[in-house]
Amino acid sequence: MSAPERTRPIHVPAAGPPQVNRPSAEILEAIGQEGVFRMLADFYGELEQTELRRWFPEDMGAASERSAAFFVQLLGGPPLFNERYGPPRMRMRHFPFEIDEGARRIWLDAFHRVIDSAPANYGFPAEHVEGFRAFLDGFSTWMVNVAPDETAPS
Ligand code: HEM
Repeated sequence: MSAPERTRPIHVPAAGPPQVNRPSAEILEAIGQEGVFRMLADFYGELEQTELRRWFPEDMGAASERSAAFFVQLLGGPPLFNERYGPPRMRMRHFPFEIDEGARRIWLDAFHRVIDSAPANYGFPAEHVEGFRAFLDGFSTWMVNVAPDETAPS
């Protein structure tokens, strides 16, 4: 990981863990594991062009595969992430990165760009686009670990 030392304390969002619905298992049935891996590779390609790039390792391909393993199991597929990397504990895994609302927005916008063209690109079922977006929207609030009033150090 290419995270610098944290300079700001870990903030817990006041709302606690979000109540989010898992995206539909029909997504995986339609696009297959291969589709999930392609989608996440494209997402990391988007992230690569944002200011979040500095937090990610040199090898974005390998990083995207770790995320894809998570999404395969989230969508009801085999537990690839747990088998390869252990329990997800997603919020904790993100502690090395000072994720504020701005960073969340950048991450989410990059994913939304990929989702917008997912029906055409991977055969992602159009009727599940909204539910998938809602999941990302809600779950990503739980990755935020910098308080809203803490400005980045200059
Ligand atoms: C809110 C904004 C978010 C930011 C800025 C962010 C950023 C990051 C960064 C910098 C890494 C480390 C990359 C690496 O070394 O491989 C990472 C890993 C990861 N993120 Fe996020 N993330 C966010 C939200 C999310 C969400 C909402 C999910 C799941 C729905 C997620 C899933 C993952 C997974 C599965 C990994 C790989 C963990 C591992 O390799 O152990 N992230 N993220």
